[in-house]
Amino acid sequence: MSTFVTLSTGQQMPMVGLGTWKSSPGQVKQSVLAALDCGYRHIDCAAAYSNEPEVGEALALRLGPGKALRRDDVFVTSKLWNTKHDPRDIEGACRTSLAHLGLSYLDLYLMHWPMAFQPGKELMPRREDGSICYSDTHYRDTWTAMETLVDKGLVKAIGLSNFNARQMDDIIGVARHKPVVNQVECHPYLSQVDLVSHCRSVGVCVTAYSPLGSGDRPWASPDEPSLLDDPRLGAIAHKYHRTPAQVILRWHVQRGVVCIPKSVTPSRIQQNLQVFDFSLTDQDMKLIESFNRHERFIVPSVERDGKRVWRDAEHPHFPFHDPY
Ligand code: A2P
Repeated sequence: MSTFVTLSTGQQMPMVGLGTWKSSPGQVKQSVLAALDCGYRHIDCAAAYSNEPEVGEALALRLGPGKALRRDDVFVTSKLWNTKHDPRDIEGACRTSLAHLGLSYLDLYLMHWPMAFQPGKELMPRREDGSICYSDTHYRDTWTAMETLVDKGLVKAIGLSNFNARQMDDIIGVARHKPVVNQVECHPYLSQVDLVSHCRSVGVCVTAYSPLGSGDRPWASPDEPSLLDDPRLGAIAHKYHRTPAQVILRWHVQRGVVCIPKSVTPSRIQQNLQVFDFSLTDQDMKLIESFNRHERFIVPSVERDGKRVWRDAEHPHFPFHDPY
């Protein structure tokens, strides 16, 4: 099978990229170098990960005249954060990511979430009681302003992240430049069958974030299931002489979903790219699909009255009330 997908713009996007969320400054530079050196050609970044300057240091060592790679050998994605949705802030936010990454263009720029937060320097603007300060900028207006980044050549394509099907259709309805990607949480415990099939029907590529179940998410609690330790995956992995992570990543790419596993461990980084030299039987693909628990691990949550609740659930553009 091919190691890349062709986006609706004609760009070729490698099906496995390096995720950088949760890779702290101090770790991420070595991870990006390890990834580029073992053959990754796709790096997924975001302003909100607060590590783009260090990703940029790694890119500077490998990309450009006289270096191992040319700029256009590597597909680089970044994301517009929720505090930058005001159309007046968008070009500045994009230029800041470009400066941090040391690039003159991005291959893909995503709207990180449909919800807008109050503009400003704080990533998480909060009131005294801890609640987030939102803004009423509509994601459609943000999209229209993001389109001018394509016109100006700052980004090759634009797309979405954490949008449900209805919100994505809403954007497609007003778009001059169509979204090429919707990047969403996706793994065998949240297989996103309906969203993946909807995206396919409208020509939008799905990228899976937290493709391995994000065991290192900051709010993971010990009573939640650990995907990588699921004995059923262990049994499949044993059968193919692969690791559970490789089986999961192969399942993603074999169903046409791009994935961006995060790792700061060179041996795992290398292992996670080695998923194109074996294939899962249809029966095993379906078996893995049947592990779906419709379980979201990545919903920012807060403690209220002694219970953990979804943080942005009351926001009018919160994406996860819809079935998909
Ligand atoms: P680490 O970064 O310490 O190597 P996700 O991409 O779903 O967010 O998952 C990231 C988590 O999975 C991290 O804790 C990462 O650990 C771990 N991880 C990444 N690749 C592998 C692998 N091949 N085997 C086991 N754990 C992995």
